[in-house]
Amino acid sequence: MSRPAMSSPIRKAVFPVGGLGTRFLPATKALPKEMLPVVDKPLIQYAAEEAWAAGIEELIFVTGRGKSAIEDHFDNGWELQETLVARGKSELLEDLKSLLRKPGEIVYTRQQEPLGLGHAVWCARHLVGREAFAVLLADDLILAERPCLAQMIEAYAETGGNLVAVEDVPREDTNRYGILDVSNDDGRIAAAKGLVEKPAPEEAPSTLSIIGRYILQPEVFDELDRQEAGAGGEIQLTDAMARTIGRVPFHGLRFEGRRFDCGNKAGFLEANVAFALARDDLAEDMAEILGRYGGRTD
Ligand code: UTP
Repeated sequence: MSRPAMSSPIRKAVFPVGGLGTRFLPATKALPKEMLPVVDKPLIQYAAEEAWAAGIEELIFVTGRGKSAIEDHFDNGWELQETLVARGKSELLEDLKSLLRKPGEIVYTRQQEPLGLGHAVWCARHLVGREAFAVLLADDLILAERPCLAQMIEAYAETGGNLVAVEDVPREDTNRYGILDVSNDDGRIAAAKGLVEKPAPEEAPSTLSIIGRYILQPEVFDELDRQEAGAGGEIQLTDAMARTIGRVPFHGLRFEGRRFDCGNKAGFLEANVAFALARDDLAEDMAEILGRYGGRTD
């Protein structure tokens, strides 16, 4: 079947949301980490909107126990909608309706045990099938003029293969990320000859770290089929991607924008400040608040 001319070459995006979010306990005891709001929007909504802005047609959520609030968030809320109509709050109503998609355009599968990010992605293998797909981690929130995934899809037209978003991190932090072993780097796109998950600073082949945006070829599923545990005893996506190098090209794109690691408390708090400062309706109040604490607003 032929695609519409404007269709993105990547049609499906996987959102692994099966993690436990232990760093945010007790907030995440009954609330999925991905539903934590930055300003007034849950993290998962930012990620979904980024995917839609990049032309993604099908969203695949890999959920887990206690994550049903995510399904409700992307569904009709009849009572609320009727109340908003009755109160004449049409703008809010339109905001809520923008989350609704045609039946079948958002699908859910469940990761029965949180065995790692690679395992979560593998859980989506039948829903993705044998085509290239995107993966977005909602806890990596990106403030950018052009959504990060859209930048990646544009770069993917040049690179093909597996493409990840990357940024340079301080060397002492390499043990928190998947790191590229670079073979060629033009300052924007780096080709990799290897990947290492969470290397010690003295062993890291570079400081170019993978952040939570990926465009992947289905060959990655073949590697994940092995179900081999890596760093931290978890089935790692980085290991599966690394094993395809040599058969599938691998590149990292230095995206334009600022990433906030909302999986940790300081990053999450900073994201709230930065996103409030970027909003016309809140920038002034936020700057005033920061001023009271002696903060800078640039
Ligand atoms: P994290 O490493 O942040 O783990 O996962 P976590 O469990 O969510 O949080 P902490 O460390 O306990 O606080 C990175 C991403 O991978 C997903 C998470 O939902 C998050 O988006 N993930 C991780 C899964 O979907 N399944 C897993 O088994 C592990």
